Amino acid sequence: MRKLIIANWKMNMLRREAIHFITNIAEQQDIDLAIVPSFLSIKELKEVALDKNILIGSQNMSEHNHGAYTGEVSATMLKDVGCDFVLLGHSERRKIFLESNQVIAKKVERAVVEDMPFVLCVGETLDEKEQGETEEVIDHMLEEALSSLMDAHWNKVSIAYEPVWAIGTGKVASVEIISQVHNFIRSKLEELAGEKASEIRILYGGSVKSENIKEILSINNVDGALVGGASLEALTFNQLISEVGI
Ligand code: 13P
Repeated sequence: MRKLIIANWKMNMLRREAIHFITNIAEQQDIDLAIVPSFLSIKELKEVALDKNILIGSQNMSEHNHGAYTGEVSATMLKDVGCDFVLLGHSERRKIFLESNQVIAKKVERAVVEDMPFVLCVGETLDEKEQGETEEVIDHMLEEALSSLMDAHWNKVSIAYEPVWAIGTGKVASVEIISQVHNFIRSKLEELAGEKASEIRILYGGSVKSENIKEILSINNVDGALVGGASLEALTFNQLISEVGI
């Protein structure tokens, strides 16, 4: 499986900064690259990205498709501006915007109905880790979001394991933890998706940078990375992606 590196810019980058960044990204032959900017840069970045073979995603999406939902953006609207995929259930959405597993399950359902590929983010908090609940929490998140999917839907699914305690903290999870959790996620996917499980990408996210990306991607069942802070400067991000190809 080709590795996929996704830059999640969160609430950073104005349009001109976004365009400047993407024009300075080195083209990649051996890996897949994606950028997830603010809603407002998706259309412009998509136009530039076509020539560079970079996918453009969205950081969120409504579970509804139209109507009186002030401030929300639908899957159809995202498709209308050329968005290739959406992140669902990022821990910042869960924690700050109180998205529950039930809401995320509805978003997954909506993505499936609208034929929108998605990356479902899962991960435990520090407290849950210290209580030894990591696998239980992740099992529950995967079960709630994915148990209604049918055979035909699995090619739209990727998973990102992002331990909440490793996001933006500089505390990357150890090789042992990443390996153990990714193996656990793969076996849960086998339970849910049967034979299709081996084709589902499982990405790691949480303090990924050029110094650790190579080691992380060499772990069994790690099919890519979701990068926050280290994706905000073209120079740093170019360094990071160049490590993957070496
Ligand atoms: P950092 O790479 O800044 O830890 O963020 C990870 C993340 O949340 C990506 O979605």
